[in-house]
Amino acid sequence: MATAELEGKRVLLGMTGGIACYKIAELTRLMTKAGASVQVAMTEAATQFITPVTMQALSGHPVFTSQWDARIDNNMPHIDLSRAADAIVIAPASADFLAKLAHGRADDLLSILCLARECPLLVVPAMNRQMWSNPATQRNVAQLRADGVIILGPDAGSQACGEVGEGRMIEPEAAYEAIVSFFRPKLLAGRRVLITAGPTFEPIDPVRGITNRSSGKMGFALARAASQAGADVRLIAGPVALSTPWGVEREDVETAQQMHDAVMHAVADYDVFVAVAAVADWRVAQASEHKIKKTETHSVPTLSFVENPDILATVAHLPNPPFCVGFAAESGNLEANGEQKRMRKNVPLLIGNLGPATFGRDDNEVVLFDASGVTRLPRAGKDALASVLIAEIARRLPDASLIS
Ligand code: C5P
Repeated sequence: MATAELEGKRVLLGMTGGIACYKIAELTRLMTKAGASVQVAMTEAATQFITPVTMQALSGHPVFTSQWDARIDNNMPHIDLSRAADAIVIAPASADFLAKLAHGRADDLLSILCLARECPLLVVPAMNRQMWSNPATQRNVAQLRADGVIILGPDAGSQACGEVGEGRMIEPEAAYEAIVSFFRPKLLAGRRVLITAGPTFEPIDPVRGITNRSSGKMGFALARAASQAGADVRLIAGPVALSTPWGVEREDVETAQQMHDAVMHAVADYDVFVAVAAVADWRVAQASEHKIKKTETHSVPTLSFVENPDILATVAHLPNPPFCVGFAAESGNLEANGEQKRMRKNVPLLIGNLGPATFGRDDNEVVLFDASGVTRLPRAGKDALASVLIAEIARRLPDASLIS
């Protein structure tokens, strides 16, 4: 998580009664660490699961639990707290609270706050699977969606009651990602973005292979930022130890040929192709089907190689290509090599860095090459840089002004 992703954002966090209240301690910590100002309001039932003292300590603000609260000058916390928020997040949201919201009831602080709001409302349901699947709850959720309320989750899995099914609250990290996403400008709304990331692995035999030091961090950060910008994102990843960004569809591959095939299979449906993967240029000509034994080779084995397809160049030379973005890690003379590579690959935008020093690091310093010249961007964390790069890509897209 990049710090300060929620800098200046004011979130009114409403908690209702449910065992998932324990997850909200972590959600609060994630939001405050990212710069948000979090004001917690709790129903009486929520205070049975986690204390206001805990939530006050984590949010850094006094917690409100009643509509009759003399700490607010005009004694109208429902008006003041709503006005001071950029968004209200109800987490966890119980079945009862969803019913209240759907019917516009206002008989406690939290329901009054929601009814008196002018800002968007995000709701994170958490309940037993039967309560969730009950037609009454489903009716309420459909009504809330129709009213413009954003519903996050729930997840399926094992529940505190011992049952298994849909209804448990999404993990706090996922709720955090969804909230960050909500606040991001939707620069890629309506766009479909295909991204390759990570290294490839070219087998020598069933246990050995050739790979490289790409961590996948930059490609995964771009997938996350593109999704936060409102795009439909498909991420084709080589072998990496990274979790899939929230909202992103992921396909895992190993070899360059598999990555090529996965890209070519999907590419017709995408408007933008971002090739971040460090694809092996060559593969072993004839990988052995069994483990090569020392005794077989008599001396050291000799490997011969054949060239892998250049995925980016292949896509960029299609008759009707998506907007293609390439990456280039150069070990020297970046400015000359970057522009040459951009022309050779036939891409409108190439993002160069002085790798391979950046492999595996959490930050990066890049230079953009396009038809109008060279733009240097300041060194930044890969998450922050990814947001900047997504904005740079978005404004270069054909008909960019048609989509707000
Ligand atoms: O030629 P070079 O490997 O430096 O080019 C890097 C760019 O080309 C990256 O965007 C990378 O993802 C892409 N590439 C590719 N298929 C290859 C080799 C590189 O898509 N076989």
